[in-house]
Amino acid sequence: MKRILLCLAAILAILPAEARKAKKTFTHETVPVPAVEPCIVAVETEGTSLVFSVREDRQVHQLYYGTKVDAEEFACVPAKQGRYSNGSLAYPATGARFLGEPALHLKYADGTHNTELRYIGHETSDTQGVVTTTLHMKDYVTDVLVDLVFDAYPAEDVIAAHSEIVNGGKTPVSMLQYASSALWFNADQYLLSHVHGVWAHEMQLEHELLGHDTKVIESRRGTQLTQCSNPSFLLSLGTAELREDDGEVVAGALAWSGNFRLSFERDVENRLSVVAGIGPHAAAYPLAAGARFRTPDMLWTFSGKGAGQASRNLHRWARKWGVYGGGSINPILLNSWEGAYFTFNTQTLLRMMDDAAGMGLEMFVLDDGWFGNAYPRNNDDAGLGDWQVNVQKLPEGMDYLAQYAHSKGLKFGIWIEPEMVNPESELAHAHPEWVVQSPGREIYQERNQWVLDLTNPAVQDFVFGVFDNTLQLSPAIDYVKWDCNRPVFSMGSPYLGEEQDRFYVEYVQGLYKIMERVRAKYPDVLVQCCSSGGARVDYGALKYFNEVWTSDDTDGLERVFMQYGTSLIYPACIMAAHVSTVPNHQSRNVTPLKFRFDVACQGRLGLELQPRYLSQEEMALVHRCVESYKGFRDIVFNGDLYRLGSPYGSDHYGLLYVSPDKSRAVVFVYAIRYDAQGGEGVPFRLKGLDPELRYKVTEQNVDHSCWWGDGGTFSGAFLGSGAFNPRLPALYSSAVFVLEEEL
Ligand code: DGJ
Repeated sequence: MKRILLCLAAILAILPAEARKAKKTFTHETVPVPAVEPCIVAVETEGTSLVFSVREDRQVHQLYYGTKVDAEEFACVPAKQGRYSNGSLAYPATGARFLGEPALHLKYADGTHNTELRYIGHETSDTQGVVTTTLHMKDYVTDVLVDLVFDAYPAEDVIAAHSEIVNGGKTPVSMLQYASSALWFNADQYLLSHVHGVWAHEMQLEHELLGHDTKVIESRRGTQLTQCSNPSFLLSLGTAELREDDGEVVAGALAWSGNFRLSFERDVENRLSVVAGIGPHAAAYPLAAGARFRTPDMLWTFSGKGAGQASRNLHRWARKWGVYGGGSINPILLNSWEGAYFTFNTQTLLRMMDDAAGMGLEMFVLDDGWFGNAYPRNNDDAGLGDWQVNVQKLPEGMDYLAQYAHSKGLKFGIWIEPEMVNPESELAHAHPEWVVQSPGREIYQERNQWVLDLTNPAVQDFVFGVFDNTLQLSPAIDYVKWDCNRPVFSMGSPYLGEEQDRFYVEYVQGLYKIMERVRAKYPDVLVQCCSSGGARVDYGALKYFNEVWTSDDTDGLERVFMQYGTSLIYPACIMAAHVSTVPNHQSRNVTPLKFRFDVACQGRLGLELQPRYLSQEEMALVHRCVESYKGFRDIVFNGDLYRLGSPYGSDHYGLLYVSPDKSRAVVFVYAIRYDAQGGEGVPFRLKGLDPELRYKVTEQNVDHSCWWGDGGTFSGAFLGSGAFNPRLPALYSSAVFVLEEEL
């Protein structure tokens, strides 16, 4: 509030009294805007510049985003009048001559729709190396203020942009569109690359050359947002292909776990506007007099070295700033789901824990099915909401299991789905008003469950209580898998009454409030974000969660593509990757166990199977893979990713992670389609190594090596020349090599 008053005071000083009175009558008089001294405002990282110009008439235009430049040189760019001006509005609002996709669209209490933002000042501050530039703007007729805030992360070349919209007037304003950020680009071609997907087939990459129209990527699912589209993209400038190592590529990711909208509008001059923010679908958010609304962060990075560098920028940012607990190494686990589903008792679980410990794993996670007594959770049609330990299955209680895990040297994790309720539950009977619903309409079920209304503070308390009470079941609980298995249908909140426009936004804000409380009380508990697999993968959630469950589909071949898609925007440390038996309920593909391990070792390794069904030979392979993973996983978690091409359209695919000091690397190669010449070596040019260093190359988990140079020592330059050519003789052959600097 203090900040609002300060801003208002600043405006009052700038604009004359008559400028503050909105004209109520239709005369031809307009509110005058006093001129300002033009200036350049630059947001800079070590390698990039985002340049704005403030014009005499107080309009703020973006002039440039790209490789670092001397921003002041842009001061000479003439500000042409009219539509064909250089540069483009920094935060375009519906109104005046702007006819493109708005970042801001307001409807005022008098029914009007026009907003024209004018500069009133800017400032820059530095907080622990993050440089924040704030542009203060104001509608020149009403008392609506907008702050455009840019947090620059210099070393990672990432800029997090958001807006803050303040209703400084006396009547409410309805926000019809309220994006986080809008940027403009100038190129002759734009290739949009973006990942979409569905259950068990997440993160599939698609490309589209943008024409002269508006392309929109959005999700209206309320909860499981990323089960159709991820709120992220790569934009290649001046080319029709996504290039890994060269060319200009912009990457963007919205840090929001709710409905979103990313629009790409190419105008007649080939300029492209990208507007990114909360999806306004059924969410004309009301801004009361005096209220401030902060939009979520939109993350931007620019790379002059292709998609690879753009991904690495985001990964580095994520590990340091964007992922809860980023930088730490999460344990290798056995999850009970595919090995036991709902059918287990204490003995089943103890046996699985014995096997997990025997295989060298580090954690056991008890998945769905452990709770509910009046409505026991023996399948997915009952029990959600009733978070008491099921006494039939687990009479010894949860602490007994968790302590047993610890006694075996394992950490212990547990599954919850606290945002949901089965109609068949004590909770649904006790609190029908807590369920998302619209009066008089059917409350549709999906997976036999309903969604709880997280806009309601009482429900927030309950959901926090589910986490809290579950943790109270045993001091030995180290990890929680937080699931969310359906989207919102028939949107409606009994709590919000007539203010249903707030639902979609406040559901997510409710979730974040709960997670703030969770993190305040349980800073060290590992929490996985699961949503029927990877339906909630975004940087809004990752602020609170240590990792995501990438997909229910653990088939090796499917995972090659899904993990590639994930890697475009998100770092390997968040990617839970499990090995399960094949075929299974998600996939009919049958890839060899070694291939499945070699794929899962690209992320946080886990197993999701019944160990006692493994043969002795398979068990021996599991041991070797787990042990070798322990030796190189620090590079997976904290190294830089270099993709060796793309799995799309290729017979072979590979990637490597290189340690930050370049002294170590781990290389993965796969044969993913039939290759008639598979007997020959497949050349991969290893990137990201120090060409001067000499690396000892050691293949992992094999009796017979697939590369003639295995065990030898070679320079980074040699390994980057294509001389590294392992034989991948059959479909689903794979290999993992560790490279270590020879001292
Ligand atoms: C969906 C998740 O993706 C699975 O891993 C598992 O936890 C089930 N839910 C349990 O119901």
